[in-house]
Amino acid sequence: MQNDKIYYITTPIYYVNDVPHIGHAYTTIAADVMARYQRLLGKEVFFLTGTDEHGLKIEKTAIAKGLSAKELVDDVVKRYIHLWKVLNISNDDFIRTSEERHHRAVHAFFKLVKEHGDENIYLGHYEDWYCVPCETFWTEAQLVDGNCPECKRPAERVKEESYFFKMSAFQQRLLDYLAEHDQFVRPQSKLNEILGFLREDLRDLSISRSSFSWGIPVPDDERHVIYVWFDALINYLTAAGFPDDMERFEKLWPADVHLIGKDILRFHAVYWPTFLFAADLPLPRKVFAHGWWTVEGEKMSKSVGNVVDPEVVVGEFGVDAFRYFLLREVPFGLDGDFSQSALKGRINSELANDLGNLLSRTVSMVKKYRQQIIPAADCENQHYKEFAALNDEIKSEVAQAIDNLAFHKMLAAAWRLVEKCNRFIDEQAPWALAKDESKAAELDQVLYCVLESLRLLSLYLNPVMPEKTGQMAVQLGQRSPAVQSGPEVFTWGRLETGVEVVKGESLFPRLD
Ligand code: MSP
Repeated sequence: MQNDKIYYITTPIYYVNDVPHIGHAYTTIAADVMARYQRLLGKEVFFLTGTDEHGLKIEKTAIAKGLSAKELVDDVVKRYIHLWKVLNISNDDFIRTSEERHHRAVHAFFKLVKEHGDENIYLGHYEDWYCVPCETFWTEAQLVDGNCPECKRPAERVKEESYFFKMSAFQQRLLDYLAEHDQFVRPQSKLNEILGFLREDLRDLSISRSSFSWGIPVPDDERHVIYVWFDALINYLTAAGFPDDMERFEKLWPADVHLIGKDILRFHAVYWPTFLFAADLPLPRKVFAHGWWTVEGEKMSKSVGNVVDPEVVVGEFGVDAFRYFLLREVPFGLDGDFSQSALKGRINSELANDLGNLLSRTVSMVKKYRQQIIPAADCENQHYKEFAALNDEIKSEVAQAIDNLAFHKMLAAAWRLVEKCNRFIDEQAPWALAKDESKAAELDQVLYCVLESLRLLSLYLNPVMPEKTGQMAVQLGQRSPAVQSGPEVFTWGRLETGVEVVKGESLFPRLD
């Protein structure tokens, strides 16, 4: 039985043949936002990321660099671990498929699949094509001009003994499952893609290779190593405790969501469910595939030399602006384009003008008109009631957007509050109220409403911008969002009053 208080979210595990780029940062940041939001709500979160370290692609890269595969992965993995620190990623575990615990899990899983049906895994011969960059098997008919239909690079001919997984036996069960669980593959367009794929008969899947050695050996047959995707997907079980700590595993599994990019949908929405069916384990609750980023209108590629290093962008624009941009610019699930001008545009207009300026003008007014002290609330005041009602709407819009992984909508909902406050200040003109002693109570409530909105914004926006929202709380004289959690966090009216605001540096300085 899974406990509803636990929230288990994963990213893909990244290949360590190359250094991380904006595409890897994107999924990891999105997962981090989900994890932070669920923690704010008081859930116990298990957020997993890691690296995919086996397979022919890594072995070939290592050879080309004159390194052993182990040396290569041990070196590149550091780049990932470092980048997640730079990006403020709050993962609870980092799994490497070269770890012993994973080796044990893959063996246990392989055996479990066999135990549930001896015919589930059988020895045969694979004779067809293989794309090394995608680590994918293809038939001759699937190739396009002899190239991989996915990445368009040359596929290589493979002819070798191989163990096969009887995937064909699970096709109908998967179709039935998809019919009953229409939220399992999201967004809808990706579910349609999978249903389209399943119109053709599934072929059994080759799950071992015998022509190279960088991988986990097949149990009881050391001549073979396990196919890298069969190995990799199991990471989601390993980190949850399979098979070493089954009590923990039963608490954590199934995962609530696997976040992935659209190119690895089939592995997660066809292969993985059939493996789990064969092992008689529950399926993850959701697989969500996001789109791909181009850069300044072009596909990102090493040969074009336009690969975006997230650390460089963060160095120039700040980590929170980068996180905000990625999630605000493109609806999660669609493709998008990264450009410096779009990033700067959003920093200047939304972050500096709308949000940063709102905070700084509000704190300045409290300083000027109220000796820095936050005034008490009057729950009967009309503005108070109006803002409380608006916050109720925003709270549910944010919750719904998060449920659908619609980060752009979540941010748009929060921005309703930012815009409302800016308009409200202009309309109420606190500078005029301050001149009239008889309007003192009115001014208190105007300031209160904006301060309370800003406090709530520091919470709504905290999962996306953990650093800047911490600074907001400091300027507002409030407790850090980092130490708050519980179902009531987003409730209107919890602003601490009678405390001093602290004028600080501008949150987002304008860029030229
Ligand atoms: N190792 C496999 C995943 C195994 S999960 C059990 C893998 N690794 S990867 O490093 O090649 O890719 C990881 C993720 O990065 C994928 O989800 C992929 O979609 C994503 N991206 C790679 N380039 C991207 C963009 N240009 N834009 C957005 N995401 C991109 O696949």
